[in-house]
Amino acid sequence: MAVAGQLKIRIESLKELHPQVYLLKFKSPLLAKAAAPGQFLHVKVDSEKTILRRPLSIHAIEDSTLRILFRVRGRGTQILSQYKKGDTLDIIGPLGNGFSLEGRRTKDEGRILVAGGLGVAPLVFLAQKISQTKDQKQKIKNLVLLGAKSKKEVLAENEFKKSGFEVRVATDDGSRGFKGTVTALLEKILLAQDLKSSSVHIYACGPKEMFSAIKQIIEPYPNAKCQVSFEQFMGCGLGICCGCVIETTKGYKKVCKDGPVFDIKEI
Ligand SMILES: Cc1cc2nc3c(=O)[nH]c(=O)nc-3n(C[C@H](O)[C@H](O)[C@H](O)COP(=O)(O)OP(=O)(O)OC[C@H]3O[C@@H](n4cnc5c(N)ncnc54)[C@H](O)[C@@H]3O)c2cc1C
Ligand code: FES
Repeated sequence: MAVAGQLKIRIESLKELHPQVYLLKFKSPLLAKAAAPGQFLHVKVDSEKTILRRPLSIHAIEDSTLRILFRVRGRGTQILSQYKKGDTLDIIGPLGNGFSLEGRRTKDEGRILVAGGLGVAPLVFLAQKISQTKDQKQKIKNLVLLGAKSKKEVLAENEFKKSGFEVRVATDDGSRGFKGTVTALLEKILLAQDLKSSSVHIYACGPKEMFSAIKQIIEPYPNAKCQVSFEQFMGCGLGICCGCVIETTKGYKKVCKDGPVFDIKEI
């Protein structure tokens, strides 16, 4: 995948969508052309107060406008949330290995995106790309499962609908959709599908516990494949410092360079 390199971008807009959740937009024809879903940008927020860059996924791309969706977690994202329209940001990207869309699908293959909370961040761009692929007419509709604490915290629903995805919601408090975790909803949906004569590709992003649950849920289904976008602390973001190394079934891997997307069987 191409690396566009280090760029100075000008912020077109930065809005608070929900408490502590922000959407940042900027134009970059170069990045829009080079980026693939699941890749990330390494953002320098303020060199005096934070030394390391912060990894943030490419949330969506429309023409040459890129969107980043982020939650304020600590110092870096707090500073980023204070930026204004017209301010300049220093970014490196697109970085990492994104989601693989494994060739042309047969009509018996389904695609399910699973987002836990802010896990929607890289999945909207993936949904956009899936909607642009010329697959055969599918028997199984593209589906996205959105998990949130309550109905107020459901994110990016309309973005997935725009890409032709059917949206199902799971909330912890049952205020909307399925009451329970998004992985319990996935389990229910898989049980209702005939996975002997069809197959399913799952693409997931969310907390690590979500991945352990998905791994267990899909174990009985040899026709279910799953790729996950993995979060890890990062230093350089370029494969140099070894700060993001994790142990996988295929040995030690760098999340920034070999990932952030991995086959769930590897992690
Ligand atoms: C490939 C990749 C893509 C990401 N994409 C997004 C995105 O699109 N939107 C978004 O909001 N966040 C995303 N993140 C997470 C984001 O990078 C962190 O939230 C951010 O770096 C926190 O910086 P901070 O200075 O605000 O917090 P810090 O002060 O550095 O930390 C605050 C808290 O967050 C925890 N934390 C910080 N970084 C991470 C991390 N990488 N993984 C787990 N816990 C962490 C720390 O334990 C601490 O409790 C992504 C991470 C990775 C690795
Ligand atoms: S962050 Fe430096 S090697 Fe991955």
